Amino acid sequence: MADKKTPNSKTIQAGVMGWPVSHSLSPRLHGFWLGQYAIDGTYVPLEVRPEDCRRYITGLPDQGYAGVNVTVPHKEIAAACVDVLDDGARRLSAVNTIVVQPDGSLLGSNTDGFGFMENLISGAPGWALGDGPAVVLGAGGAARAVVAALLEAGVSEVRLANRTVERAQTLAGDIGGAITIIGWDDRSSVLDGAALLVNTTTLGMTGKPPLDLDLEPLPGNAVVNDIVYSPLVTDLLEKAKKRGNPIVDGIGMLLHQARPGFRQWFGVEPEVTDALRAHVLAGVGK
Ligand code: ATR
Repeated sequence: MADKKTPNSKTIQAGVMGWPVSHSLSPRLHGFWLGQYAIDGTYVPLEVRPEDCRRYITGLPDQGYAGVNVTVPHKEIAAACVDVLDDGARRLSAVNTIVVQPDGSLLGSNTDGFGFMENLISGAPGWALGDGPAVVLGAGGAARAVVAALLEAGVSEVRLANRTVERAQTLAGDIGGAITIIGWDDRSSVLDGAALLVNTTTLGMTGKPPLDLDLEPLPGNAVVNDIVYSPLVTDLLEKAKKRGNPIVDGIGMLLHQARPGFRQWFGVEPEVTDALRAHVLAGVGK
């Protein structure tokens, strides 16, 4: 694969910074595209300790990087040490994509919300913004990107339920807009009248507790999306599918969020295809 070859001076370098980072599917994902488009480039995992994060990021231009993706736990530090933030990254105070500009300055953006919306649009073409409120479960970093993207797209209301209600309140205060905070115990009853349900919690993920949620009040045509992709079809998606709701799995968010970085570093607009999806899924849990 193209991501395994030895770089020379023409080779475009990119990677993903995290701690730990060995589980990241991004090298597999970008490596597939590098091979598909026959690009002279590398995309490598970069294991960077939190205390080294700032130094590493500011050193990217000198190290010859075109840019990097940034993953847990560095997204917030990255937002604080790039030179320029785009609107999305500023709104979330978190960066997942850094591009080294021609003048050597660092542009930070956040493409998680873009990835979420693109996945939703391609996975549930029948879903329309005006159909009704969205229910979002969870208030972590992923929820921030999802809620901001939905509001920006024009969803009338986001009903936000999180176990720790203060965290949901902080999210709502930071992002602003039509967010209704819901107590965790009311997560089922607020499904009444919703057009979209998104799980952003870790519940239902392999090795985590199950998501205990009664779908009975959810309208039969509401779209259900789980951003968990291990397993790909979570219990939530299984239950939703059984009662006839359209479902959207979580791997597409990962695939689509990678597109803007790849385009800016390597100069090709990459496509999310079934072959890419199968290739990345084969790496889940490895
Ligand atoms: P990420 O940044 O990927 O979204 P995170 O910040 O660890 O991950 O957030 C995980 C989400 O799963 C949070 O909403 C968390 O709820 P709390 O804010 O109350 O911690 C939720 N979560 C994790 N374990 C949970 C559990 N056992 N019950 C309910 N919610 C849980």
